[in-house]
Amino acid sequence: MARRRAVALLALVLLVAWAGARAQDEVPFVTTPDPVTLAMLRLAGVGAQDLVVDLGSGDGRIVITAARRFGARGLGVEIDPALVDLSRANARAAGVAGRVEFRVEDLFQTELSAAQVITMYLLPEVNLQLRPRLLALAAGTRIVSHDWDLGEWQPERSLTLEVPEKAIGRDKRSTVHLWVVPAQVQGLWCSAGGSLAITQRFQTFSATLSAHGAPAPVVVFDGRIVADRLHAGTDAQAAAIALRLAGDALEFTRFGGPASQFRDRRFTRAGPLGCR
Ligand SMILES: C[S@@+](CC[C@H](N)C(=O)[O-])C[C@H]1O[C@@H](n2cnc3c(N)ncnc32)[C@H](O)[C@@H]1O
Repeated sequence: MARRRAVALLALVLLVAWAGARAQDEVPFVTTPDPVTLAMLRLAGVGAQDLVVDLGSGDGRIVITAARRFGARGLGVEIDPALVDLSRANARAAGVAGRVEFRVEDLFQTELSAAQVITMYLLPEVNLQLRPRLLALAAGTRIVSHDWDLGEWQPERSLTLEVPEKAIGRDKRSTVHLWVVPAQVQGLWCSAGGSLAITQRFQTFSATLSAHGAPAPVVVFDGRIVADRLHAGTDAQAAAIALRLAGDALEFTRFGGPASQFRDRRFTRAGPLGCR
């Protein structure tokens, strides 16, 4: 009886320990090969105006390359102090110590709001743990990930490179993905004489434009959100209807067909009592 209880207790302890194990404890140090680093930074369109934050920055190469090749500022956060020391030495050797910073920090604690670009070479489950925080960033923030995606949040673009020097994996191939944080527009929006009801899933949406008192919607359309811009359909250039989130208001920038009656209206978020 005592033995059974001891076994049950041990099983419970192991279960609690397993449940409490944090995915971030398991991300090993593996470097992104240089051609892949360049592909990530190019895919994100990194430039001199950007702050690039690398989550789990290893030996600092992504942040250092962003500064040296693209003139960006950079922040690397890394849990291993020895790698942070190495990164600082690498930044001095590359002549970019004044533009980059490395911190010993748990990436789950890092304040991300100042970043224009976030880079990651982590693990699938860590990416998924980070996803809610990434989605809450300012619209237009670019995120690039080496190899691992963000689950149901589809990338805007992905590309695959042959990388013979890749240290891990049989394929010697790397994929890099780009996401652009969409504006959060879910909910009911009101203007003089009408309303716009939007349901949003990551960067896709469905919208119903209605005129007050009319028995049927003016128009129903589905589309995509890129940063602060919404467009009907899948092709931004060809879209007949497009909107922009300007401050706290949605405005039509293209208003094909029946939407034209709302061309000059601004839509602001409904209060607790709806649009009237
Ligand atoms: C796969 S390596 C990528 C290194 C670098 N970003 C690159 O692409 O070359 C992941 C890095 O994340 C670091 N890491 C793991 N968990 C972390 C955490 N919770 N906070 C910060 N860094 C972490 C590891 O020490 C490792 O250096």
